[in-house]
Amino acid sequence: MEALAKNGPCEYAERLRQASAKSLNPRRRAVLGQYFTPAPAARLVASMLAPENPGRLRLLDPGAGVGSLTAAAVEHLVSRGTVELDIVAWEIDESLHDPLRATLEQCVIWAASRGVSVRWVIRDGDYIGTTSAALAGELEAKLEQFDAIVLNPPYRKVNGNTPERQALERVGLPITNLYTAFLALTACQLSPGAVLAAITPRSFANGSYSAPFRRFFFERVGIENLHLFESRAQVFADADVLQENLIFAAREGGWPAEVCISSSYGLTDEASVRKVPTQEVVHQNDPQLFLRIPSGERDTEIATAMVSLPSSLMDLNIAVSTGKVVEFRVRDNLKVIPEPGDAPLIRPNHLIGNQIHWPNAQIQTKPNAVRVSAKSEKLLLPNGTYVVVKRLTAKEEARRVRAAVCDPSAVPGTQIAFENHLNVFHRENRGLPNDIAHGLVSYLNSSFVDLYVRQFNGHTQVNATDLRHLRYPSLRALAELGAVALRTQPQGQEDLDNIVNHILRGSTQERHLEAA
Ligand SMILES: C[S@@+](CC[C@H](N)C(=O)[O-])C[C@H]1O[C@@H](n2cnc3c(N)ncnc32)[C@H](O)[C@@H]1O
Repeated sequence: MEALAKNGPCEYAERLRQASAKSLNPRRRAVLGQYFTPAPAARLVASMLAPENPGRLRLLDPGAGVGSLTAAAVEHLVSRGTVELDIVAWEIDESLHDPLRATLEQCVIWAASRGVSVRWVIRDGDYIGTTSAALAGELEAKLEQFDAIVLNPPYRKVNGNTPERQALERVGLPITNLYTAFLALTACQLSPGAVLAAITPRSFANGSYSAPFRRFFFERVGIENLHLFESRAQVFADADVLQENLIFAAREGGWPAEVCISSSYGLTDEASVRKVPTQEVVHQNDPQLFLRIPSGERDTEIATAMVSLPSSLMDLNIAVSTGKVVEFRVRDNLKVIPEPGDAPLIRPNHLIGNQIHWPNAQIQTKPNAVRVSAKSEKLLLPNGTYVVVKRLTAKEEARRVRAAVCDPSAVPGTQIAFENHLNVFHRENRGLPNDIAHGLVSYLNSSFVDLYVRQFNGHTQVNATDLRHLRYPSLRALAELGAVALRTQPQGQEDLDNIVNHILRGSTQERHLEAA
């Protein structure tokens, strides 16, 4: 025991973590989100804890597992001058209490050998239920407050009728995932000026589902430090978790003037670090409060250029919505082989390269048309020139945003239907002018848009909200871009980027001229 204590509790917890990976019940592991933090990541999380007065602290670890984060936090805080530490570790899975207790004991012994007093308590049970009840004032005990919090919260969707969802709704948190519930509740447990450090998926950073969470969270805390792992597979490599992960520190009481952003490929790669003005991370007038991560100078330039484009989609009188056909709802009306009178159905498999190939003769099992009926009529649009963008792209695809023009030269008939895995740009549910549609597709397929989207979107999904969120060139510039693209038929990404960048420079100048 003593020998282990010399090596530090972090290393001790790491051995327990590795041993536990083999013994965890896979079903329970998935339900409780038991993916424990490897020691290098735990150290990085802990290193972001910078309490204002480190001498005497209360530390919380909700969902503590075998104590990997607490152990790293103890080593870090002791190195920063903490002399007295009270730890509260929540863990719902009783089978983890023995290893957790052992790690906490190691913390006590290791700290004592440095003259530091550590006390701990394990809270058995559901962190969410108890904390939201305390927050709602339903318990006699007041909500506990902490000076520092470390967390790697469990990731799991929270469905409509579960007690967790109801408990959260009672405190005004319409939250759909356990991990954002943990983050929101811990934000309420920070004493004034206190700090939390977390490792989480990046998915809360954008998208409309997470907007209520971002409003709740960012009202209480400001992010001061943020680390992005560029590799999806590296951080929890031994647990097969394929999420883009963030490590960040957030402090109670508002945003700092600058956010320190670092990024690395994986856990052991060198990190690049920079400070960016907070305004670049969360735009002041963004009602969705997207969290952007400009990880290099180039990202900042791209974000600045995007913001200076003159138009929102609304200014262009163009809307984007998801395709109306949810196939399982209209299964009886779908047809693989189209017949006269049917409406062509456009799905992602018809988008090949930057073009629509309909019908798709290669795939004999997927539908190509919708039978026109009373049930399907409301799902159809008049045939015309639309712009479609795939909602999901494969991980290995070079670009996140994949757009194509869908027009009557590729798809015959008077009516058309779009499947729900496509975003569709339209004007009042009708097609767009031809040159505008081609300009829009060129713009959306440019590296400029792709690099910008990657700053706020860590997953392979591009939703209509993301596309509404972009700025666009003026109608005139889009028409010009469309005309140039139709005339020159750009070959390859570089060609396209040259044309788009040329028009964008003009479009930005146009805005400045209008403003002057
Ligand atoms: C992602 S693991 C992280 C464990 C540890 N913090 C680490 O970083 O290695 C989440 C932990 O939360 C626990 N957990 C899940 N739901 C919980 C709840 N409602 N209340 C308390 N603990 C919970 C799981 O059993 C699991 O040990």
